[in-house]
Amino acid sequence: MQASDSAVRQLGYLVFECAPGVLEAMTVVYGEIIGAAVEPQEGGAVHVRLDGRPFRLRLEPGETSRLAAIGWEVPAPGFDALVARVAATGAALSDPGAEVAAARGAARIMRMSDADGFVHEFHVDLPFAEDAALKEKFVCGDEANGTFGLGHIVQIVGDLPGATAFYTDVLGFDLSDRITWPAADLFFLHCNQRHHTVALSAPAFGMPPGAVHHLMFEAKSRDQVDAAYAKLGALGFPVIMTIGQHTNDEVYSFYMGAPAGYAIEFGFGGKVVDRANWEYKTFDAPSSWGHELQLAPQP
Ligand SMILES: [Fe+2]
Repeated sequence: MQASDSAVRQLGYLVFECAPGVLEAMTVVYGEIIGAAVEPQEGGAVHVRLDGRPFRLRLEPGETSRLAAIGWEVPAPGFDALVARVAATGAALSDPGAEVAAARGAARIMRMSDADGFVHEFHVDLPFAEDAALKEKFVCGDEANGTFGLGHIVQIVGDLPGATAFYTDVLGFDLSDRITWPAADLFFLHCNQRHHTVALSAPAFGMPPGAVHHLMFEAKSRDQVDAAYAKLGALGFPVIMTIGQHTNDEVYSFYMGAPAGYAIEFGFGGKVVDRANWEYKTFDAPSSWGHELQLAPQP
């Protein structure tokens, strides 16, 4: 499906619950390592901004650490059509109400939980002003050469064909490519100019359906990635994969461990998708160089 008004336009936000002690550590990860704006909120939550949007990540105190919601931004004119397609799958949609919408920075919102327990929040964004300082640091949201959204998320799913069809046929994503190697078989999907906003895997890496393997954030310079990598040891965070470059999206990146249960990839130089002329390919290795595995992410 090509870009349309009733397709998801970007990964808008993520909401995480964080077990005691985890929220503080993740604040260090996002603030001091990635270099995002970290803003404490009422009730102990923390908002992480990568651009002018009120938050791209919301970290809430909780009993356990888990991904509480994936926010998908949909253009206002196509919102009802997208919600109707989701409803036609038999998914139970609920309206969290105006208060939640406002707290999410959204004008409209509808929520559903999928078979793996991922909670999706389809929303129309309220307008927001650009943040010039953050604009210089992160490829996020709308850029001069297209729309890129927050970053990407790699999800472990129980029914790989079913999850892929949900993203393509219902939400309007297209397949970018596939990487098949002894450790895993991953399908990469785009909804805008970011090479992939979602990657899907059947259970792999010792992780069950419903797990998040990693999140990726994209810097505007290679120096930011190198500087972040250099801080890991001193701040007490492990390297999961050393600096390297991916075969498919050509991102220069490293992966770090974080106590929230997912790894974080911080990268630079992702391939830009031309949706009208994209050719699907299969790769037999995830990286062209580097990315030496140091430890497995702990679910
Ligand atoms: Fe990645």
